[in-house]
Amino acid sequence: MTGLPERGAVRDEQLLIQENAGIITENGLIRETGTHEELLEKARQENVEINLLEREYVVLPGFIDSHTHICFGGSRARDYAMRNAGKSYLEIARAGGGIWDTVTKTREASEEELAKLTARRANELLQRGITTAEVKSGYGLSVNQELKMLRAIRTAAENTACTLVPTCLAAHMVPRDYDGTPEEYLREIIDHLFPVIKSEGLARRVDAFIEESAFTSENIQPYFKRAAEMGFDITVHADQFHTGGSEVAVEFRAVSADHLEASGEQEISMLAGSDTIATALPGASVGLGMAFTPARQILDEGGVVAIASDWNPGSAPMGDLLTQASLLGTFGKLSNAEVLAGITERAAKALRLEKAGRLEAGYMADMVLFETSDFNDILYRQGQLKPAMVIKKGKKVYSIHDV
Ligand code: NIG
Ligand code: FE
Repeated sequence: MTGLPERGAVRDEQLLIQENAGIITENGLIRETGTHEELLEKARQENVEINLLEREYVVLPGFIDSHTHICFGGSRARDYAMRNAGKSYLEIARAGGGIWDTVTKTREASEEELAKLTARRANELLQRGITTAEVKSGYGLSVNQELKMLRAIRTAAENTACTLVPTCLAAHMVPRDYDGTPEEYLREIIDHLFPVIKSEGLARRVDAFIEESAFTSENIQPYFKRAAEMGFDITVHADQFHTGGSEVAVEFRAVSADHLEASGEQEISMLAGSDTIATALPGASVGLGMAFTPARQILDEGGVVAIASDWNPGSAPMGDLLTQASLLGTFGKLSNAEVLAGITERAAKALRLEKAGRLEAGYMADMVLFETSDFNDILYRQGQLKPAMVIKKGKKVYSIHDV
């Protein structure tokens, strides 16, 4: 994933494929890439530890899942059954199920329990080749409960090799037990949650859900305004069922606008012409049985598309980024290069990670290896060709042969 266009469409021919390759890592970073022969010679001279892989592998940058909600309690298997039997996501939410159900279960869980659940899920991600995952709060929905979630995510990060990038999603919905207006709730978050997040360094990103069941383009303004003033990166759950969110994202120069299943011509052009990364969440499309994000059109108009799993107990319970990204490629007519860029380099950009998502000198030595000689196999098998090995900061953290 080196030397690809920064924006817009990517053709498979633009992928730089090093055959018979070698990589030298040092202190968790890639020091050098090149041919096996040339690097082997160097390594021998310098007494570098050498790991020769005898079989044929394709090695890619470790995958980056730039949008997850893996810190949660409970399950929503009943919602899933209800949706398949005819109820819509928004109907279930209005009836008191949906996100609120997970809020109740997450509030009941202790910080330690949540940290354990989150680390366990992060380890699952690692085995699927994901070496960095964003994790949102948003099932606490009060100052203390949101803090509990963010602290649990921090503890989880200490207990998994997967890098976790926390995001404050206190504006996921107006808590049903809140005795006041949406504006008052957000004011409380601004005044009493944001400063603690800053002082404890719990997150550097702030998210909101702009939707009928959550916040409006109008009432969210002070929240994002204050977040921007305080130096948080902004990201938005936008245009999932109705439009409006993507406009807010572009207005606040958000790093990413995620979902976009309902985006139309106007939103597509606006996003494609902005610096806001459009993040497709095919796991939510599959989980809810709805349309995919119009990724092809966004790319063709010059936008940047990342692809993330949205792993959460409600709309995206699968949590398998590679399968989902493959499906988006199939249904959305994306080239393999576009799909792979969406879960590596372009996802890194969505999280503002400077040195992740590429196999290039100076980048994090995070890699995922597949046992095949043709990179096309990885998406062709639609998630069923599993990673054979995962390397994090230069160290092997998972191998299919060890289990
Ligand atoms: O990204 N859309 C809003 N938030 C999540 C769903 C969370 C949930 O249903 O628990 C999403 O799909
Ligand atoms: Fe989400």
